[in-house]
Amino acid sequence: MNPQAPLLEVEDLRTEFVAGGHRVRAVDGLSFMLGAGEILGLVGESGCGKSMTALSILRLVDGSPGVCGGAVRLNGRDLLGLDEEAMRGVRGGEIGMIFQEPMTSLNPVLTIGRQLTEAIRLGGASKAEARERAIELLQLVRISDAHRRLDDYPHHFSGGMRQRVMIAMSLARSPRLLIADEPTTALDVTVQAQILDLLLDLRDRLGMAIILITHDLGVVAETCDRAVVMYAGRKIEEGTVEEVFDQPLHPYTSGLMRSVPRMGAGQVRPARLAEIPGLVPSPANMPQGCRFAPRCALKVAQCETYPQWSAASATHAAACWRSGELAHAR
Ligand SMILES: Nc1ncnc2c1ncn2[C@@H]1O[C@H](COP(=O)(O)OP(=O)(O)O)[C@@H](O)[C@H]1O
Ligand code: SF4
Ligand SMILES: [Mg+2]
Repeated sequence: MNPQAPLLEVEDLRTEFVAGGHRVRAVDGLSFMLGAGEILGLVGESGCGKSMTALSILRLVDGSPGVCGGAVRLNGRDLLGLDEEAMRGVRGGEIGMIFQEPMTSLNPVLTIGRQLTEAIRLGGASKAEARERAIELLQLVRISDAHRRLDDYPHHFSGGMRQRVMIAMSLARSPRLLIADEPTTALDVTVQAQILDLLLDLRDRLGMAIILITHDLGVVAETCDRAVVMYAGRKIEEGTVEEVFDQPLHPYTSGLMRSVPRMGAGQVRPARLAEIPGLVPSPANMPQGCRFAPRCALKVAQCETYPQWSAASATHAAACWRSGELAHAR
């Protein structure tokens, strides 16, 4: 471990797959960093490459060519250079992960206790130690009566509780980083808020960093320290949550913000959410120049060239030719 290095550094990550006989890029030159104990929101509409990014970091991309360039350094060690056995130690060890659908990730024919203790024992604990730790973990994710619940099967649990169990499993070996891919998307709003609150609490108590992947900027606002906005496989804006919300520099980020329900001031539901017109381009058919241009109301002739990355502060930047004007427009 290099104490100078950030916890995670993703640098110029490129991930490809073959579609229609051609290689296409789902993640195209993505770079970002994450400090210990930090919560980073990776946000964008469906199809922008968020899950591919998570799978690339974990080296779980299915099929070839998969990850074909860049670096993923965890405490200074490049994961892309590790052999498969070392990588298996990283997954579930230094990096925990949870995905959207807890029902598909839990085995329906095994008790919660069995699944939890198996995850714990991968780290080398004895049977008795693993049982104690399983109870501790269930308590940590706020499942009451943990002793008794160990003998239950997944179908005895509600969707929200199954997601808590998944979170407990991901913590089995005390990871320094948790990657959570749309962990609350399948849950109703109340349960979603409880799970997000739990993640914040776990970060505070365990000091673990989290990459929270979501299509919902509202989730980022409530939970994250910083945000990386992805569009069509690329990072198009990055900043602290305050910066991104107070002064978005990219029309896509502003569009995502208009599609977040505002629940303040006695308003229960917004009348109608503004949607961004059009669709995310497919990796097989990327526009030349700015990839958001076909959907952008602000586009000008210059947008036919891919925009430079331009900074508004040491922590806040975007890839849009008009970000300077957007910054001053507020
Ligand atoms: N195995 C695959 N084969 C072909 N295309 C894929 C595959 N996996 C993902 N894609 C495409 O890669 C892009 C990014 O997908 P993904 O990372 O799942 O997006 P997100 O998680 O942001 O919704 C999408 O256009 C998706 O259709
Ligand atoms: S570069 Fe041009 S097309 Fe792209 S988001 Fe900015 S204004 Fe719109
Ligand atoms: Mg996804």
